[in-house]
Amino acid sequence: MTFVIETRGLTKTYGSVRALDGLSLSIPRGGVYGVLGPNGAGKSTLFRILLGLIRPTAGEAVVMGGAVGDVAASRRMGSMIETPRFPPFMTARQVLGWLSAAHGLKADAARVSGWLERVGLAEAADRKVRGFSVGMLQRLGVAAALITEPELVILDEPTSGMDPPGIQEMRALIRSLAERDGITVILASHQLLEVQRVCDRVAILNRGRLVREGAVSELTSSGERLRLSVTPISKTLEVLAALSYASGSLDGDAVVATLSRPETPALLRALVEAGVDIDEARWVGADLEAVFMTETGSVQMPESIHAG
Ligand SMILES: Nc1ncnc2c1ncn2[C@@H]1O[C@H](COP(=O)(O)OP(=O)(O)O)[C@@H](O)[C@H]1O
Ligand SMILES: [Mg+2]
Repeated sequence: MTFVIETRGLTKTYGSVRALDGLSLSIPRGGVYGVLGPNGAGKSTLFRILLGLIRPTAGEAVVMGGAVGDVAASRRMGSMIETPRFPPFMTARQVLGWLSAAHGLKADAARVSGWLERVGLAEAADRKVRGFSVGMLQRLGVAAALITEPELVILDEPTSGMDPPGIQEMRALIRSLAERDGITVILASHQLLEVQRVCDRVAILNRGRLVREGAVSELTSSGERLRLSVTPISKTLEVLAALSYASGSLDGDAVVATLSRPETPALLRALVEAGVDIDEARWVGADLEAVFMTETGSVQMPESIHAG
């Protein structure tokens, strides 16, 4: 497997704050990779180091096979860190033309129009950036990251400031970048549920440290539970409490049972024998939020995960 990013013991301190604390990470080429964690976890700090905007206190990073700041490697990357700013007197189209020229690419009106279209700014293409909403600036930032046709694009909170339809469009765009254009996308987000739908793999950070890393399907399958719609509920809970291989708890108007998959028929038989009616039994995966809770031992949901 080839890696677009490799870090070893990456650490960044600001006074007494450890923004990154010995982070070792290998991000494979291809697909969409999510860097997740609550606000302050160190996501933007990681990206800033990878882009050569700040220097780590300790540790090392290899980007596209080269050292950070390597010119040839940087040319193959695009990025958007937090909400970007552009000259307010320029139109979206002018911004992209200007950035192309700054990268030594010859003027290509069709390419500029193409990216404006793909990020959903075709209608606003000739409006001045001054009047743009945060969501529109994010879209233009994504187009700006892609205008140089990079192999790797790093997007920091690309959906911040967007409404639900905008978030859905951005999600579709990100998937198409990976699937249609073959671009490796690395994105940061504090919205774990949102990212679960778009990423192939994720790294979960908390306080500058790696909490979990892996394929989304693997991370979410480990905590799966059997969700039972049954009557009567009290009888179901009694049966579960008496079994050695399962346990149960109430979740809304359903019972959620914890057991290993091969025990499913035995459990269903036990319930039927006890006179329980089973309307539905369905395995549900843990979501990344649950994985995060388990790994950090937080009982209280970090506020930032719910924000937005
Ligand atoms: N320039 C800076 N000076 C001081 N502290 C900073 C600076 N940049 C980031 N931090 C701190 O480092 C930690 C990680 O921040 P950041 O990387 O922005 O997190 P995230 O992007 O995950 O929200 C936070 O505690 C933040 O306050
Ligand atoms: Mg950030």
